[in-house]
Amino acid sequence: MSSAPRRPPMVAGNWKMHTTVAEGLALARAVVERCGGQDAVEVAVLPPFVHLWPVRGVLEGTRILLGAQDVYWADAGAFTGEVSSPMLSGWCDLVLVGHSERRHLFGETDEDTARKVAAARRHHLRVILAVGETATERDAGQTFAVIDRQLGAVLAGADPPPRADEWVIAYEPVWAIGTGRTATTAQAEEVCAHIRAMVAERAGTPPRVLYGGSVTADNAAELFGCAAVDGGLIGGASLKPDTFGSIVAAAVGASR
Ligand code: PGA
Repeated sequence: MSSAPRRPPMVAGNWKMHTTVAEGLALARAVVERCGGQDAVEVAVLPPFVHLWPVRGVLEGTRILLGAQDVYWADAGAFTGEVSSPMLSGWCDLVLVGHSERRHLFGETDEDTARKVAAARRHHLRVILAVGETATERDAGQTFAVIDRQLGAVLAGADPPPRADEWVIAYEPVWAIGTGRTATTAQAEEVCAHIRAMVAERAGTPPRVLYGGSVTADNAAELFGCAAVDGGLIGGASLKPDTFGSIVAAAVGASR
C-alpha cells in the first residue's frame, strides 16, 4: 500500500424495484441510524423514483446522499413515464446511468447512456456510470474492449470531459450482479485499475471507481482493500440495513 492518502470511498445502495413507499422510508431511517454518524465514506441511497422526495426528508440534516436509479436525456416533453434531470436537479445528489439492467433488460445503447450522462451533467447532477461485461464477453477475452466501448461512448460526446468530482464509475460485471458470484479481488482490481487509467488518459483526471456485483458484509472488506477500488455499488445487500451498515463499516476501515 502506498502512503498517499486514500480517495474517500463511496458506498451506494441501489434498491432497484423493491420496497413500497412506507417500507422505503423505514429503510432510509434505518440507514440513517446505522450510517449517518460517520464522514469517512460517502454513503448514498438510490430508492425508486416515487420514494425520492419523501426519502429526501428522512435524509435532511445527514450527510447521506440521495440518488435516482435512472434519468431520461431530454429536459421535458412528450415522453410518457420518463423523469428528467431538471426534475431532480437541486435536491437529488446523484443519478445512476447505464446499469446493466437498463442496458440488457430495457435495450439501452451506449449512445443512450452517453445522452443521459450529458443531461445529468448539464443540470449538475453527479453521475454514477455503470459499466461491465457479460459472462460470454469475459470468456471471449473481451472484457477490456467492452469496458472501453461503454466508457468511450460517454467520453466521445463529453465536452468538456467530466471532472473527477462530476462522476464515479461503477464496474459491475454482469455475471456477478444478483448471482452470488462475486468477482475475485484480482478481477475487480484489474478492471477498476484499467478504468482509472483509461479515463485519466481520455478525460485528464481519474475518477473514483466502485465495484458492484454480489457485494456482501463478508466480502466487502477484501474488495474495498483493493488499491483501485473506491467502494461499492450494492444491490440486494442494501435492502438489509444491518448488512448495508456492515458494508459501510468495511469501507470506513478501508479508508484508513
Ligand atoms: P447485487 O446488485 O449487489 O444484488 O449483485 C448490484 C447492482 O446491481 O448494482
